[in-house]
Amino acid sequence: MQDFAGRVAVITGAGGGFGREFARLAAALGMKLALADIAAEALADTVDELRGRGATVLGEVVDVARSDEVARLADRTYAAYGAAHLLFNNAGVGCGGYVWENGEADWQWVLGVNLMGIVHGLRHFVPRMLDAEARGEPAHIVNTASIAGWIAPPLMGVYNVSKHAAVALSETLHHDLRLAGSRIGVTCLCPAFVTTGIAASERSRPAALASGAAPTASMRLAQAALEKAVRSARVTAVEVAQQTFEAIRAGRFYVFTHPQILGSVRARFEHALAGQPPADPYAARPQARPPAADVEP
Ligand SMILES: NC(=O)c1ccc[n+]([C@@H]2O[C@H](COP(=O)([O-])OP(=O)(O)OC[C@H]3O[C@@H](n4cnc5c(N)ncnc54)[C@H](O)[C@@H]3O)[C@@H](O)[C@H]2O)c1
Repeated sequence: MQDFAGRVAVITGAGGGFGREFARLAAALGMKLALADIAAEALADTVDELRGRGATVLGEVVDVARSDEVARLADRTYAAYGAAHLLFNNAGVGCGGYVWENGEADWQWVLGVNLMGIVHGLRHFVPRMLDAEARGEPAHIVNTASIAGWIAPPLMGVYNVSKHAAVALSETLHHDLRLAGSRIGVTCLCPAFVTTGIAASERSRPAALASGAAPTASMRLAQAALEKAVRSARVTAVEVAQQTFEAIRAGRFYVFTHPQILGSVRARFEHALAGQPPADPYAARPQARPPAADVEP
């Protein structure tokens, strides 16, 4: 997609981080916006800021893990604007720790947002995008995955699984669309650490999916490592948003915002193809490797 002015962008997780930067850029390009987030106040801040700059903005409090709420977002978007040209399935959360110590609620929460959030976005928007494409309207979908969709570092199991799923879903979406004769674009965004609110994901965990237990030593260690990595990130959310829009313009599928990590991705595949044990995800940055955490009894 080359022309953005007057077109409609739908963005989940628009209350902060990447989502807010996508919204700022889309508004600056003259797009109409449908913004969603589970956090009402954070969403209102983005909506107010962009309306203050003259943008046309619809704000919906939505839990992307719930199909009915994403369906409502789609219904309201089409009722307001009659179209959705650019869909950012971006909302995401994370939790860490030894993979056997994460409870069922952790899996339900993170897979509910990071995987099913994208699934619901696709189910409720793609059929209408295909319908509009038959009338000459272009569309493009951006799924926010992560470099954790390409390497599987320790203490991040639930998140790694969710982001590998997001990559697989995005690639299959691309193939399915082409098989169906559609030219709808797909971009799979794969950043490494960037300073956003991601290390404070627990703030948006629904009470019904509370972990119900005090964090284990490995969970505390994972949280400390995440906070440090996110705090010391060198790539900014603004740069991630800019690179993503460049990819949309160019029709590019993969966006790797931290090219220095691609050596670890290459090593992962080389080890697999050579029949070796998994490559060390921290080989390029040994200083980032977390220390061993005590195993809880
Ligand atoms: N920041 C990083 O280092 C990094 C790296 C790779 C990938 N990502 C991914 O980028 C995406 C955006 O995260 P971010 O880094 O901007 O973090 P962020 O916490 O700043 O923003 C995420 C937004 O999603 C919202 N959200 C959380 N649960 C939701 C739900 N159930 N329904 C709707 N909205 C919900 C939050 O309220 C928040 O506003 C996520 O998918 C994340 O996994 C982040």
